[in-house]
Amino acid sequence: MAVTGAVLVLFLLGHMLGNLKIFLGAGSFNHYADWLRTVGSPALPDRTLLTITEIVLVLAVALHMWAAVSLARRAAKARPVKYAAKRRSQAGGYATRTMRYGGVIIVLFVIWHLLDMTFGTVNPEGGDATPYDRMIAGFQPGRWWVGLFYLVAMVMIGLHLRHGLWSAFQSLGLTRRPRVRNALRAGAAVVSAVLVVGFVAAPVCIMIGVVK
Ligand code: HEM
Repeated sequence: MAVTGAVLVLFLLGHMLGNLKIFLGAGSFNHYADWLRTVGSPALPDRTLLTITEIVLVLAVALHMWAAVSLARRAAKARPVKYAAKRRSQAGGYATRTMRYGGVIIVLFVIWHLLDMTFGTVNPEGGDATPYDRMIAGFQPGRWWVGLFYLVAMVMIGLHLRHGLWSAFQSLGLTRRPRVRNALRAGAAVVSAVLVVGFVAAPVCIMIGVVK
């Protein structure tokens, strides 16, 4: 879970930073998107980096979900009799539900997101427009429900990440000492918050007309 989670976090940080280039204007954003397709050229064919990223992402998501299901099965086997008293614990309640349903919302989001921003199938500008034009068209106020879906998905990603990071720290045995424990809890929250704010900045600024 932790290794595939780390791969996904690294991708998210890179993707979030790339998206922030929208604030530097159409030229900068499209240049960056173009670079993603042509990096390594002419030694390597176009889309080499993107294709490797896509394969690694698909594998990481599949293995992450497989690990989640097998861990849940192992936990159920280890404790066939349910707890008599339901405590508001990390292990059973809010966090587990957030991870399960949040995970499903994130997968649905990624499917919509690829149809919207990569293939242009559900984007008003279609697949032939520049990445900048697709971004601007995708978050017009008339399509507020798309923006809302992105915002909900980003909050889900933030919650998923906060709990995921925290679980990874616990699995590594780093959370035994109270001071370190508190610092890591805060660290997980800060990293997740930075990611959510960095991701929602572009859609929100487009929706309110700050970025046109
Ligand atoms: C508000 C949040 C986000 C925005 C505005 C956004 C924007 C974009 C844009 C514009 C592209 C197309 C880039 C291009 O054509 O060069 C893209 C591609 C992509 N995004 Fe996002 N993204 C967001 C969040 C996410 C999240 C949270 C994930 C994963 C969980 C994600 C996964 C991807 C993937 C897999 C691609 C395709 C990369 C490829 O072409 O192979 N995005 N995104």
